Amino acid sequence: MSRPFRLAVNTGGGDAPGLNAVIRAVVLSALNRGWEVVGIRRGYEGLWKGDGLIPLDRGSVRGITHLGGTILGTTNRGNPLRWPRTLADGSTEEVDRSPELIAAFHKHGLDALIAIGGDGSLRIASELHARGLPVVGVPKTIDNDLAATRVTFGFHTAVQTASDAIDKLHSTAKAHSRVMVVELMGRHTGWIALYAGLAGSASTILIPEIPFEIDRVCERLRAEVDDGPGYAIVVVAEGAAPKGGDPSIIEPERAGSSSRYGGLADRVAGKIQESTGIETRALVLGHLQRGGQPTAYDRLLSLRFGVAAVDLVDQESFGCMVALDLDEVRAVPLQKAVEDLKRVPVDGDVVRTARRLGIDFGD
Ligand code: F6P
Repeated sequence: MSRPFRLAVNTGGGDAPGLNAVIRAVVLSALNRGWEVVGIRRGYEGLWKGDGLIPLDRGSVRGITHLGGTILGTTNRGNPLRWPRTLADGSTEEVDRSPELIAAFHKHGLDALIAIGGDGSLRIASELHARGLPVVGVPKTIDNDLAATRVTFGFHTAVQTASDAIDKLHSTAKAHSRVMVVELMGRHTGWIALYAGLAGSASTILIPEIPFEIDRVCERLRAEVDDGPGYAIVVVAEGAAPKGGDPSIIEPERAGSSSRYGGLADRVAGKIQESTGIETRALVLGHLQRGGQPTAYDRLLSLRFGVAAVDLVDQESFGCMVALDLDEVRAVPLQKAVEDLKRVPVDGDVVRTARRLGIDFGD
């Protein structure tokens, strides 16, 4: 029989479909052991704000497995280890608020934390663990860019949403004999664009892992429209960049928050229209990819991750993250999990499949 824990759970970074399913699995699995569970609102913020802790019982997690978003709220601004503070002269400096945060954790009588997050939030969790916080991580992100797990929850739903959107673009592109350029999320990696573009029968897919040449893209599209179906769908990952060029950033990295991508679809669409003369429109799918109900696959993965995370707390295996390895959920060291980003393997079978089908990567 394990010791009873007062367990805290939080959700950090951008939301992803499946967060509520993880929370439900954590809560039920902990309550079934006779433990107590509290949720921290808005990432770590709730720990040092009066209104920030909420007791979680069976009623709080009833009927939430299929819901998008997170009942705890989240934030991808304000890293507690690099907290922005405005000085008298208007400039900002970064301060480490971890001592305050760890003190609040103990003051509230908490024994362990399950941190559900992407690379940024899990890096924070790993550093807090190094400073003595008993923490277990759960990998979340629609971007699927965490190297230590085969897949993160949220990715499958985002791909489904994006490929559904691409399906709808085919009819309007065909009706007008246009090129439609659709920009998908993914930050530094092209997982969503590659999977949704392939599933949605795009002609061209541009991803950060394969720098593109716009003249080549235009040449292929001209042939596609003239000799093929008379229209084309181009999928661009927001972080893709031309050979020798930079990605399209609309907000550079600032204290406590990472850079924001945007604008690539417009740029690519403008070049295509100018160079080919084919009427071209751009569309940014944006946060629709993060919203809505998780697919059954993501719900299952989330429930498995949540239960496995509580098992790790029970074994006092802190400083670990749950991960999917082949078809088993296992523990990996948190520090290792945040060392590298998982990029699309350019010689992997998914890219090869796309190339064999005639999809152009602009290289
Ligand atoms: O990491 C998830 C993600 O949706 C990225 O794909 C995207 O670049 C970013 O978050 C958008 O963040 P925000 O919600 O701050 O616009």
